Amino acid sequence: MCYGVLRVVDNALLLLTIAVMEIIQTIHQMQVFADEVRASGKILSLVSTMGYLHEGHLSLVRRAREESDVVVVSIFVNPAQFGPGEDLGSYPRDFESDRMLLQKERVDVIFAPSVAQMYPEPSLTYVYVHLLTETLCGADRPGHLDGVSLVVAKLFNICKPHKAYFGAKDFQQQLVIRRMVRDLNFDVEIVTCPIFREEDGLAMSSRNTYLSPRERSCAQVLNQSLAEAERMVKEGERNVETILGKMREMIEAKNPDRIDYVSAVDPNTLEPIQEIKCPVLFALAAKFGKSRLIDNRLVEP
Ligand code: PAF
Repeated sequence: MCYGVLRVVDNALLLLTIAVMEIIQTIHQMQVFADEVRASGKILSLVSTMGYLHEGHLSLVRRAREESDVVVVSIFVNPAQFGPGEDLGSYPRDFESDRMLLQKERVDVIFAPSVAQMYPEPSLTYVYVHLLTETLCGADRPGHLDGVSLVVAKLFNICKPHKAYFGAKDFQQQLVIRRMVRDLNFDVEIVTCPIFREEDGLAMSSRNTYLSPRERSCAQVLNQSLAEAERMVKEGERNVETILGKMREMIEAKNPDRIDYVSAVDPNTLEPIQEIKCPVLFALAAKFGKSRLIDNRLVEP
């Protein structure tokens, strides 16, 4: 993916190494490329995205760049993970900007298949990860996580990564994928990277672009309520209802359009917990304007 170029500068011949990023659009080409990388003994990493990249995505790309020889970033807005009435049609897209950002990060390949390439006919096969998909976002967005598991399983079979990077903002998603990998023996290591936040604490998300300035300022309360939950636990509060009540009160004061959930769960099983003894995951989802935002924080008592 690198080639040398000879340039004359001040009468001296310089050999410059220029990284060339490939854009692959077909499954067959991607699989051939991945087979070649694996056969050469190099470590191949995948960062799967739906595009409209922000610093959160780029933090995954940078980590992948550091830890592997060849970095593939997939850009695919996956229809299978959007429910009826969700924002599939209006999901933000800007391939040219994504391409430039990834070129700067020295990504080797963008895998950008079309919907027809990924789903030439409706998939009769789904990957259903029992229990872990039935709470939190799984309860509010039926079928969403099944669509995620389906496309991620396909991407693993197409891009054949040794390592795959996911963000902790989608905590449930990375847990579901980890479990799918374990249950189905995918030969890939899942790496979960920390949540990347805006300066005001709002977790980075492509959907933040839908927020008006007022909604954007109100949405800061999501991270603030998680910080408050952590503060309460650190100061000895052990009653989950008291903490969740305080978080809801803070969020409601900012007039969200909807609160989907404010929960305290076991970070391994996602089952609700009653009393805080072990590490606890505080997780929430709320809608401000058109944006359904999620966030979470893992707290050690
Ligand atoms: O987190 C996302 O952007 C998507 O759910 C993913 C993992 C790329 C699958 O479409």
